[in-house]
Amino acid sequence: MRIALYEPDIPQNVGAFIRLSACLGVGLDIIEPCGFPVDDRRIRRAAMDYYDLASFVRYASWRAFRSIRPAGRLVLLTTTGDTVFPDLAFHPDDILLLGRESAGVPDDVHAAADVRLRIPLRPRARSLNVALAASMVVSEALRQTNGFYAQADQHAHPPAR
Ligand SMILES: C[S@@+](CC[C@H](N)C(=O)[O-])C[C@H]1O[C@@H](n2cnc3c(N)ncnc32)[C@H](O)[C@@H]1O
Repeated sequence: MRIALYEPDIPQNVGAFIRLSACLGVGLDIIEPCGFPVDDRRIRRAAMDYYDLASFVRYASWRAFRSIRPAGRLVLLTTTGDTVFPDLAFHPDDILLLGRESAGVPDDVHAAADVRLRIPLRPRARSLNVALAASMVVSEALRQTNGFYAQADQHAHPPAR
């Protein structure tokens, strides 16, 4: 399971994703350009001491990401998705792709996704915060695929009976 961020706008959100990635052991792909100047010092500051625990890869562009991204379905989280969140069976190698805080993703990225996933919201509610949407979906995805750290660990070393 991986999380990919499409051209994120807000450095604090990237920091939150690095921390999520570090805590859950989920890989993170950051697709640039970002809406803020990206340098290692800024990312380190946002990620705090989780920087070294996280496993993230920076891609210069969507094109670069598409050509060398890891294998697995591209599951785009989008408010206009045709698959609703409670209906999706996740795969262990899914890549959960999140759009920009300001504008989601452009049409070509939307079209390139294997799954377009929508978290159903109440009428008049526009969207969730990007990190909250990701947390909901990655949690369910790890639950379904037995991917939570402790579960995976227990699986590898079943307790003695
Ligand atoms: C603040 S939202 C973007 C809102 C933007 N105006 C749009 O129309 O896409 C940022 C990202 O969070 C995710 N997101 C937020 N709410 C969602 C929902 N209800 N279903 C699926 N993804 C959602 C999507 O990846 C979205 O691109």
